[in-house]
Amino acid sequence: MTTPLTLDSAAKNCVWEKPSISRQDRAILNGHRSCIVWFTGLSGSGKSTLARRVEEVLFRKGIRTFVLDGDNVRHGLCSDLGFDAGSRKENIRRVAEVAKMMMESGIVVLTAFISPFAEERRLARTLVNEGDFFEIYCKASLAECEARDVKGFYKKARLGQIKNYTGINSPYEIPDNPDLILDTELEAVDVSVARIVEFLDEMALVCAQARLSTALPWSAQ
Ligand SMILES: Nc1ncnc2c1ncn2[C@@H]1O[C@H](COP(=O)(O)OP(=O)(O)O)[C@@H](O)[C@H]1O
Ligand SMILES: [Mg+2]
Repeated sequence: MTTPLTLDSAAKNCVWEKPSISRQDRAILNGHRSCIVWFTGLSGSGKSTLARRVEEVLFRKGIRTFVLDGDNVRHGLCSDLGFDAGSRKENIRRVAEVAKMMMESGIVVLTAFISPFAEERRLARTLVNEGDFFEIYCKASLAECEARDVKGFYKKARLGQIKNYTGINSPYEIPDNPDLILDTELEAVDVSVARIVEFLDEMALVCAQARLSTALPWSAQ
């Protein structure tokens, strides 16, 4: 992997440019606040499914959202990274920084990354203020994820065709204290989606309907 520049080497000759439009200004314009909803779990545990489905619900409420998905960023922003521990760390550092910028822009960012290491998830959380980051653990056993084998990668990993596959030959560290746990092995997708939306409502994330919601074609449905 490419060695990332250290903070010292990269930032010492830079001065932070203060934006003239604040995050609060953007929240007022949008009619809702922004945050990062960070899904973590084994491959096949339901991160992408739930991030997309929750996004659909929020979108229909007139909330500006975006899903950052592990598989997608590895086709672009992180296409130079592999799956060894150092690369995984750098992968999460980059996406956490991107998620932070998107959150600053006023968007509710839903991220779907295995993010197997507690240390990287902690780093992602500490980039933003308390109350801006919600960790959602998609809990499903390895046996269940392997049985689902959504992409056929578990089979390949078992055959030794994929190295460093989380759960098979690379560790997954179960979150100690996630904001929400979803048992996606026992729960139907709709139930998990409803629980997340309710949780976000409780967190006052989407307390105010976006002012545009009444203008959306589906709001009359
Ligand atoms: N409660 C649930 N939440 C999310 N996915 C579920 C749930 N129950 C069953 N599934 C199924 O599990 C699979 C999860 O796949 P995916 O979302 O691609 O996982 P990941 O992004 O974590 O690798 C999907 O086929 C989905 O239909
Ligand atoms: Mg996925």
